[in-house]
Amino acid sequence: MAHAAPFEPFRIKSIEHIRMTTREERAEALEKAGNNLFAIPSEMVLVDLLTDSGGAAMSDAQWGALMMGDEAYAGSKSFAKFEATVRGITGFHHVIPVHQGRAAEHILFSQIVKPGDVIPSNSHFDTTRANIMAAGGKPVDCVCECAFEAEHPCVSKGNVYLPKLRRVLDTERVPFVMCTVTNNAGGGQPVSLSDLQAVSAECRKRKIPFYLDACRFAENAWFISRNEDPRPVREIARAMFDLADGATMSCKKDGLSNTGGFFACRDEGLAEKFKQRLILVEGFPTYGGLARRDLAAIAVGLEEVLDEDYLRYRVGQVAYLAGRLHDAGVPVIQPAGGHAVFIDARAFLPHIPPPQFPGQVLAVALYLESGVRSCEIGTLMFGDGVAPPRMDLVRLAIPRRAYTNTHMDYVADHIIALHHRAAQMRGLRIVQQAAALRHFTARLEEIVPTGAKA
Ligand SMILES: Cc1ncc(COP(=O)(O)O)c(C=O)c1O
Repeated sequence: MAHAAPFEPFRIKSIEHIRMTTREERAEALEKAGNNLFAIPSEMVLVDLLTDSGGAAMSDAQWGALMMGDEAYAGSKSFAKFEATVRGITGFHHVIPVHQGRAAEHILFSQIVKPGDVIPSNSHFDTTRANIMAAGGKPVDCVCECAFEAEHPCVSKGNVYLPKLRRVLDTERVPFVMCTVTNNAGGGQPVSLSDLQAVSAECRKRKIPFYLDACRFAENAWFISRNEDPRPVREIARAMFDLADGATMSCKKDGLSNTGGFFACRDEGLAEKFKQRLILVEGFPTYGGLARRDLAAIAVGLEEVLDEDYLRYRVGQVAYLAGRLHDAGVPVIQPAGGHAVFIDARAFLPHIPPPQFPGQVLAVALYLESGVRSCEIGTLMFGDGVAPPRMDLVRLAIPRRAYTNTHMDYVADHIIALHHRAAQMRGLRIVQQAAALRHFTARLEEIVPTGAKA
């Protein structure tokens, strides 16, 4: 079935040049980088799908708002606009800006996590997980099992599996429950409204606070309004926030901003404690470590992200790329999530065992052939932990409004071509690695079978 490219509901007013590189130049860049795509300079990348965070193209209205930013340290007009916008969308009265999402996580957890506490979620994102652990807590994932089946047709693969959550609540000391919408660590898959309602009811019954990790709240609301509840996305988003006691947010995703975040909640006592800590490490509560003009741009971005024409295009572009790959027989996680396409590298390269990093092999080959930068999420990223990861994936995360459908075709054409010659690819081995978070700095080399030419 041919997939229709979604209409881009904007036209381009300002552009950033992409330098066309040759295969030889990219081979040299890979050699210098030790086959680690984090070490490739951005000018050597043609389509950068490493992350969807912070790379959004801002609108003319956002650039205009930046120019109108009120840089007052205290009581800035830009903060007032930001606060009113977040209150309007979420219904949370206390709104506290931070420089990015993990700062909200760090400050919140330093206030409410005690050593030995257990914090359940559908899947904790890696910074969330690390900040819980830094506060002495234990993060536990309770996502439903279908999240681990690439072809499973469930449209809410980000859902919390309630029996598992209840077991954790029955047996552990749990100061609060979290839910990530959409579930980034689980393929950007949405959480259904009915699942959020069930989790919220369970928490309220036990008087345990429930917080959303709301980085992609609008994309999640779009899926709910498509699959489950046809109300306008803005109403769905509000219905999601109404079920929670507060939210952490990285505005580098659905804030359509290049920086920023916030914590928002209903509890005045908690907000006060948060602000005291914020003043110590981030800044005064009317700017939270940001330039006030950034707050002004975020206030506009948070409204624009709820535009349904935008969301149709946004989620449509991800589905378009996933659909082209799927139709050509490339193993991708189905259905497509909200911000990224995930390729199942174990199925793509069945001859390369997980200890030889099939995800990294594919990501490196894709960069060499096309200049497209993707991200391995598998044995390189998580294989030095306690348990080996259950999947080896390559994530193609699409920055918001930054690339056209032609770029998506370019990406798809190269991946399909690589799929035809997958059998020629060889595994990698690590030659240098750091003690923690090794994927950022590790150096790798190709494993050349004895007797074969390098
Ligand atoms: C689900 C989720 N939570 C938290 C964060 C952290 O946000 P930031 O990168 O702004 O610190 C991210 C970033 O990618 C994320 O995807």
